[in-house]
Formats: sequence, structure tokens, C-alpha cells
Amino acid sequence: MQRRGAGTLSTSDIGSRVLLQAWVRRRRDMGGLIFLDLRDRSGLAQVAVYPEAHPEVTAVLSVARAEWVIEVEGEVVARESPNAKMATGAVELLPDRAKILSPSDPPPFVPDAAGDAGEDTRLRYRYLDLRREELQHNLALRSEVTQAVRNYCHEHGFLEIETPMLTRSTPEGARDYLVPSRVHRGSFYALPQSPQIFKQILMVSGFERYLQIARCFRDEDLRADRQPEFTQIDLELSFVDEEDVIRLVEGLFQRVFPLAGIEPPREFPRLTYAEAMRRYGSDRPDLRFALEIIDLSDLLATSDFRAFSATVADGGVIRGFAVAGAAGASRKQVDGWVKVARRCGAAGALTLRRRDGEIQFQVKGVLNDEQLNATAEALGLEEGGLALIVAAPEATAAAALGALRLELAATYDLIPKGEHAFVWITEFPLFERDEKNDRWHSLHHPFTSPDPRDLELLASAPGKARSRAYDVVLNGMELGGGSIRIHEREIQSRVFELLGIDAEEAERRFGFLLEALRYGAPPHGGLALGLDRLVMMLVGADSIRDVIAFPKTASATCLMTAAPARVEQVQVEELGLALAAEAEPQEAD
Ligand code: AMO
Repeated sequence: MQRRGAGTLSTSDIGSRVLLQAWVRRRRDMGGLIFLDLRDRSGLAQVAVYPEAHPEVTAVLSVARAEWVIEVEGEVVARESPNAKMATGAVELLPDRAKILSPSDPPPFVPDAAGDAGEDTRLRYRYLDLRREELQHNLALRSEVTQAVRNYCHEHGFLEIETPMLTRSTPEGARDYLVPSRVHRGSFYALPQSPQIFKQILMVSGFERYLQIARCFRDEDLRADRQPEFTQIDLELSFVDEEDVIRLVEGLFQRVFPLAGIEPPREFPRLTYAEAMRRYGSDRPDLRFALEIIDLSDLLATSDFRAFSATVADGGVIRGFAVAGAAGASRKQVDGWVKVARRCGAAGALTLRRRDGEIQFQVKGVLNDEQLNATAEALGLEEGGLALIVAAPEATAAAALGALRLELAATYDLIPKGEHAFVWITEFPLFERDEKNDRWHSLHHPFTSPDPRDLELLASAPGKARSRAYDVVLNGMELGGGSIRIHEREIQSRVFELLGIDAEEAERRFGFLLEALRYGAPPHGGLALGLDRLVMMLVGADSIRDVIAFPKTASATCLMTAAPARVEQVQVEELGLALAAEAEPQEAD
């Protein structure tokens, strides 16, 4: 007899015989009568065992406990009292045959009550936690997403090509995971931070459109949306510009988001990097709520308040935003916000309140009525509202207000649930300044093409030069990023020069790419989407761990396999390595 999914039973099966092979989710004994809830990938079904009907079935099933795997066969009947909360709650199975397929030790927690177990225990027994309906759903959706991505890309002429895992250091800027070579003692492979260089080389090879669902490895600080190994939907295309890549990704999202019942707009709004920083204080702004940052520099530059006038005189800015209904914020709340601003490098944040028909600036007597009125008006500050104002160098003010914007949106519950605000951020700067080391860094990676309008600036003001990079952002999370690449050697050399990478270093690190670019490189560009983050957004998960089968902890360990682990001394020796004295056994073992 063919096996059926427990969750597929319905009233149309009443009167038929079915076979279920599933896990016991729960068992209830009601004075001789046994009820078992069975669980498999498809869902739940109730099995009812009447002792007098089939004593041998009762004998088998009376020993079954939670998480045992059993097989039952029998007739589907209508339930006397249907359970509306259960998808299959209108029916139950009356088994006339039963078998234990696999018993279970008493589990450290049952999947339905995993929440009580604590995350470490759940990660340690990940296979049990994965039986939870939510995680089953997340991984099933993840599988559907990759399938949809493959279909969409194949329809659009992409080839799926794999690139090496054992490779050289790639240019994404995080720390590498290194793999020592046994054959070439003292040499190391690096696990790829992304397939960036290989996909560009595939364009030189003439594949024109490349897709890879690619594993990437980055040894960096972990957060709720970061894992040391993660998956990218990695794309590269020849003979395209920004517009082509953006349209392609919007089309892909049209295909993927409906899998979770979300309908993205046909075209996403776009903001340049400069505008995003000015209006939202972030290059990944959450646009589900307004709290737009307003520049007050012109209005307040000539005020008697020195903190304002001096900031503007020094080339800084005065900016702020207003929150309706926040005039009653407590001293403690304001202190908290000041701390947020300080963490971002600002001296603090000042309040402007409008209540009882009056506009009150935190520092009394330094702004005249005209300035108070004009500031309130510029900020859109209404009766009962509060504004936060920061005076600082532009980048610091943006960072502080960007952080405060998120903080106040959360405090005042301004983030609408179920909303999806997509936005493209374009025209990223090509470089960012590393003041400490007195050098420039690429904001994305060194193969990102400069904006042709700014080629002149490469020599005169590199910090002002824009790039042809773009990011796609959803609800304040960077889902993906990419760029049109440099395919001309001369420009690539100039960029390396500015980055302080001399010809010798360029040759050593990326020589093979530079060489490839000499042999007929088509104009090309692409993008990579974080698959894990994409699925997080689709299922509304708060943690990236909820969409990865075997994730790592915040300290990059796997509690189930206890990786990383120490290895035999001979393995270390075979690799020609020796452990430093300080690398004595640690907790991770
Ligand atoms: P980038 O470094 O922006 O670009 O990465 C692309 C996307 O990958 C996801 N991502 C991560 N997800 C989980 N954990 C991490 N540690 C992590 N790091 C990155 C993000 C991010 O937007 N080669 C370029 C792409 C290109 O230019 O085509 C690259 O890797 O969602």
C-alpha cells in the first residue's frame, strides 16, 4: 500500500484505507482509548485506537512515545468532534495494523515546546529542532526559492556554473578562512568570500550569463543577519548596464516573493547613495516609515547657540527629524537617545518639543522665536511632537540620525507589520577613506567601475568619485549588491594605484584576472543576492539561523558537530604546521 502524508488526509478520504509512516508528536491515553498525533513533513493527523477493536494494535501502540517512528494502516473516518485548529481535524485514522519502525530515547525537548529549551540545546540537537513546523516550512520555502531562481534564470539565458571552493583569497574585504595544503607545505587555499573573480573570468570566456547558488565564507563578526558561511544567488552578465541588471532582479523578485504571498512592485524606487544618507542616514534605509531627516544648517548656522554655529562654520551640518506624539518622552528615554548618538560619534542629540502651543528647545534662550518657528516648520513638528537634532560633521550626523531614526521608529511602534519597502541604492562612492591608515578602500571591491562622469575626479578628489555599484534593500536590510565592472585595463590600473595596490601586489593578488582582461573582456556586470537573507524576509524570521539547516552560533561554532575541533597532531604535522603555544585547547573543543 502506498504511503500517504499525514497532513494530506481530508474528508474526501473518509471510508478509504491509508498507510501512514510518521513520528509520534503526542500521545494521550483516555481510559483505554489512545489518541496519537502523528507528524510528518506534510503535517499532522490524529490516530484513534479503541482497545477492544484491535488488541494487537493497542499492544504495539501503547508503548509508542513522543518522537517514535511508527507505521499505521487503517480506515479514515469522520471525527465525532472535529478540531477546527488542525488542518486534518475533521478526520481520524482507525488503525487495524501497527508497527514500530524506530523507537526514540526520551528527547531532551519536544519540537513543539522547543521554545522552552534554550537556543544552545536546540542547536546541539538540531535534528529535533528541525522537526518544528516553522523550520520545516522555512527550509521547504528555501528550496522552492532556489528552484524558482533557477527556472527564472534559465528562462533568461543563464548557465549554472560552479566555481572552486579551494581557491585564492578573493577581494570582498573580510577575513579569509584558510585551508592548508598538504602537498604544498606552507601554502594555503582560501575558501571563497564570493565567486567574484571567477564569474568575471567566465564573462571573458564568453558564457555571457552566469548563475551560481554559491556558498561563500567570511570570517567576520556575526550578527542576526550574518553567518560565516552563507549562500549567494550569484549573477554575472555581459553586454549590460545598470538598468539591465536592475530590471532582471526586479523580475526575479516578481517570481520569488509571491511564493510567500508577497507582491513586490513592478519597479522599485531608487535613491542615490548621497540622497539615502542625507534623508535617512543610512545606505540601507528602512522605508516602511517616514521620519525623514531634514537639513537645518542654513536655518540655524547664524544662531547664538555656539554648538550650532561652530559646527556649520567648521563645515559640519545641523540635521534632525520629528516624531509625532513623542513630546512626552521621559528624561530617561532622551538620555538613551543621546547615548545612541554618542555611539555614532556625535556629541549628543538635542530635543525640540512642541506642546501646549509652545515650541521648546532643550537649551533655553539660544534660539529666537523666528528660529524656533522656522525650525519646527522645516521639521514638520506638530503639536505633541518631538524632534531630535544633531550637529556634527556630515557623515557623523547621518550615522547618528540614521540610528536614532530606527530607535524611535521601534519605540513608537511606527513600523507597519506586513509591509515590504524595496529600494535600490545607486551611485555609491567608489572609495571610502581609512583615516587611521591614511589610505583609500574600495566601498565594494576594486573591480567596480567608476561612474564615467567622475573619471576626472579619480585624480583630483577620489572621495567624491561615484561608482557604478548598486544595492537592493528591503525593510532596511541589504539583500544584495553588485556593480558594472571595470573591463579596461587602464582604468583598473588607476583604481589599484589609488587603493595603494602597486603593480607587483596587483599582479600577485589578482594577476590572473588582470591577464584575462587583456584577452578580449566584454563589458560586464552583475550582482549577488544573499539567499539566506532573502528567505529570512520571505518567512519573516528575525534570525538568519532560522532559515539555515545547520547554522553556526555567534562565535562561529556548530554545537551539533562541535566544529571547529582540534585534530590529531599527525594531521597538523603532515600539513607542515605547528601550533603556537597559546593555541592550547579551548572551549570550542
Ligand atoms: P556582497 O559582499 O555585497 O557582494 O554580498 C552580496 C550579498 O550577500 C549577502 N551576505 C551575507 N549573508 C549572510 N551572511 C554574511 N556574512 C553575508 N555577507 C554578505 C548579503 C549581501 O548583500 N561579489 C559581490 C557581488 C557582486 O558584486 O556581484 C559580493 O559578494 O545579502
